[in-house]
Amino acid sequence: MAGDVAGNIAVGVHLFLAFVVTICGPLQLIPQTRTHAPVFHRWNGRIYLTTAVVTSIAGLVMLFHRGSVGGAVQHVGIALNAVLVIIFAAMALRYALARDFVTHRRWAMRLFLVVSGVWFYRVGLMLWLVANNGPSGFDPVTFQGPFLNFISFANYLLPLVALEIYFYTKDKTLARGHIAMAAALLMLTLAMAAGILFATRLMWFSRLL
Ligand code: HEM
Repeated sequence: MAGDVAGNIAVGVHLFLAFVVTICGPLQLIPQTRTHAPVFHRWNGRIYLTTAVVTSIAGLVMLFHRGSVGGAVQHVGIALNAVLVIIFAAMALRYALARDFVTHRRWAMRLFLVVSGVWFYRVGLMLWLVANNGPSGFDPVTFQGPFLNFISFANYLLPLVALEIYFYTKDKTLARGHIAMAAALLMLTLAMAAGILFATRLMWFSRLL
């Protein structure tokens, strides 16, 4: 936005840090990097945590300083996402420093999902648009409506619920539960693959061509 120096810096920082977080996060979850390169995991983890927290603070500054598209409910959804990132980052670090890696792993995975909320939002929105053959449940001009209110929270709360169910079934020894969870994860992965395809075609590719 011309003339809004502080806001423009916040947007620039936010986009750069979002790029870093996209690279560092998945590397943390690969078991081989932890077992064969713990020092890398430690430093990459520190970069990821710092980046996630700074990005969230920059996001909150952007939200309160210059506002965002959508209505108040969506803004609350975005703000809560940022607050959860900061809390989960603190918990993941706390348990890593206490060398309680079982609990650290759980908080780190929760953190990864809330940081990825903005990604799930885009993928979910594109799936919804394709499934409904266009905008449905919201006004595309004002970018407001019940579906957008819903997805502003669902983009990180639904993945968190799925993760908690995953933890729960993993702790149980019932084979049936493991199979049902694996099937549910497969379905979610396929849905995400379709969402990525649609997002690439409708949002990102169309801007390049
Ligand atoms: C987004 C994901 C993750 C982040 C951001 C993260 C972050 C960190 C950080 C910052 C440290 C170093 C703490 C310090 O000493 O300063 C650490 C250590 C560690 N983390 Fe993670 N972590 C993640 C995922 C995981 C997962 C999934 C596991 C699986 C068990 C794990 C296991 C460990 C272990 C074993 C260490 C100790 C490494 C060592 O110092 O020998 N982390 N993590």
